[in-house]
Amino acid sequence: MSGSGKVVCVTGASGYIASWLVKLLLQRGYTVRGTVRDLADPKRTEHLRALEGANERLQLFKANLLEEGSFDSVVEGCEGVFHTASPCYVNATDPQAELIDPAVKGALNVFGSCIKTPSVKRVVVTSSMAAVLHNGRPQTPDVVIDATWFSSVEFCEQEKKWYPLSKTLAEEAAWKFSKDNSIDMVTIHPGVVIGPLLQPTLNESSAMLLNLLNGSSTYPNLRFPWVNVKDVAMAHILAFEVPSASGRYFLVERVAHYSEIVKILREQYPALKLPEKCVDDKPFLPIYQVSKEKEKSLGIDYVPIVTSIKETVESLKEKGFVSFSKLAIAK
Ligand SMILES: NC(=O)c1ccc[n+]([C@@H]2O[C@H](COP(=O)([O-])OP(=O)(O)OC[C@H]3O[C@@H](n4cnc5c(N)ncnc54)[C@H](OP(=O)(O)O)[C@@H]3O)[C@@H](O)[C@H]2O)c1
Repeated sequence: MSGSGKVVCVTGASGYIASWLVKLLLQRGYTVRGTVRDLADPKRTEHLRALEGANERLQLFKANLLEEGSFDSVVEGCEGVFHTASPCYVNATDPQAELIDPAVKGALNVFGSCIKTPSVKRVVVTSSMAAVLHNGRPQTPDVVIDATWFSSVEFCEQEKKWYPLSKTLAEEAAWKFSKDNSIDMVTIHPGVVIGPLLQPTLNESSAMLLNLLNGSSTYPNLRFPWVNVKDVAMAHILAFEVPSASGRYFLVERVAHYSEIVKILREQYPALKLPEKCVDDKPFLPIYQVSKEKEKSLGIDYVPIVTSIKETVESLKEKGFVSFSKLAIAK
């Protein structure tokens, strides 16, 4: 197994993406040190402790992004650090305190711990397509978005896009710190992540699909870049394991409008009551392309969107977030 004998750290281990990352790392033989904010909360820890290999090779630690030095003892002795912890939701009442501080100060805090120990060979940071797309440039079917694209701080501020702003500022700060301190860093930029949930709680991106299943009569006039959580987790691991991996990796299987997501749901679940129309009468926001060349070189082979959608629905059902019989079967 490729991770045998290697110790790595995953920050925010209980999260949606991180739980899959921990699972796959354990499967590959790694010893994993995962951080959570509240070790006493079974909703944050039980699903991790139940993973195969966890008894032998998973250690959980308490750490908070906003407490300086919180990650020092966790990172010490680790060969790789996967920094995934960061608030992932869009409706913040105090964006600076809720989103921006934990994202930016948190990243610098984790990096600060990394430079205190010589053991760390590479840091893989979970950034986002939110740190790529928000710059006001046209996004139409002929446009191919590649690693030269960055979100603009000014544009995010102007448009009050606080989550994208948090990810943009965090990425900027991380690149500056890693260059100034000669840290080998790779950033992973997933689109909207869907697929099975391991954790018992509902995360923001899974809720985007759940919202279509809860009897709503309309869908938003929005398009997003979608990707499966298992591909995202594996990309983090490959970004650590492949020696030549470097720079930014965009993870997008397909850009699709909500109308297309609803169409797929209707084909897969014909008995479901799904939104019939778009929330407005404007033309659908156009899709765009995202370059896949670099990601293919890492060895990513994407799960198709239809499978990802089915996996999400089945998982939401299994976890009790949606009950087809009560809520959504068409009469
Ligand atoms: N889901 C997506 O569509 C998507 C797309 C692109 C990028 N991302 C990025 O992927 C990462 C994980 O997101 P996710 O979707 O897995 O969301 P999630 O399930 O909400 O996980 C977020 C994680 O961040 C941790 N966290 C938040 N504030 C913290 C703090 N102050 N100190 C320590 N930990 C803190 C949370 O810890 P607690 O468990 O203690 O709350 C949780 O483990 C984030 O960096 C996010 O920006 C997500």
